[in-house]
Amino acid sequence: MLNDLKNVLIKEESIVRKVKEIGLQIDEDYKDSNRNLLIVGILKGSVIFASELIKNISRPCEIDFMALSSYGNSSETSGVVRILKDLDNSIEGKDIIIVEDIIDSGITLDYLLKYLKAKNANSIEIATLLSKPARRKVDINVKYLGFEVPDEFIVGYGLDYAEKYRNLPFIGVLKEEIYKK
Ligand code: IMP
Ligand code: MG
Repeated sequence: MLNDLKNVLIKEESIVRKVKEIGLQIDEDYKDSNRNLLIVGILKGSVIFASELIKNISRPCEIDFMALSSYGNSSETSGVVRILKDLDNSIEGKDIIIVEDIIDSGITLDYLLKYLKAKNANSIEIATLLSKPARRKVDINVKYLGFEVPDEFIVGYGLDYAEKYRNLPFIGVLKEEIYKK
C-alpha cells in the first residue's frame, strides 16, 4: 500500500492532536445545552475520525451512522445522492453534529443538510476531518475542521480509493498513476 502513495500529508500524531482540540471545543460549545448531542458519522469514510472524536468528547453523547452513495465513479461525485442507511432514531429536538471524512464539492453534505433540516433537530453542525476548498461547488458552513488539503487524491484514516487504503493510520496522497488508469 505504501508504494501507492506519493507522500504522507498528515501524520497520525497530528491528527490525534487536532481531534483532541475539536473534542474540547465541542465540550465547550455544548456545555450549556441540556439537549441530547447526537454524533452522525457518514459511512464509511468517517468511521475512524468519528471514533477518535467521540473518545475526546467528555459530555454525554449518542452516535449513529448514515450511509450515502453518490452516482458516479470512485473519484468524482455526480451530484445525485442516495440514502443507503438512514438514522436509527428520531433527531427531533437533538443537537446534531454530522461527521464527514472530507468535503470536496460539498454536494453530498448539501443534500444531507437539506434532508436532515426537515426533521426538526434543535441544531445541526458539521465536523469534517478534511476539506478541499479548491473543489467546492456549493458553500458549506463547517463548524469543526481538521485540516485543509490540496486538490489531490487523499487516502487513509478512513478515506479510500476503490475501498482500499482506509486502514492506513495517517493521511497520504495517492499517486496519480493509481487512479488515472
Ligand atoms: P463531495 O460531495 O464532492 O463533497 O464528496 C464527498 C465525498 O467524496 C467524501 O465523503 C469522500 O467519500 C469522497 N471524496 C472526495 N474527495 C476524496 C479524496 O480525495 N479521497 C477520498 N475520498 C474522497
Ligand atoms: Mg465519504
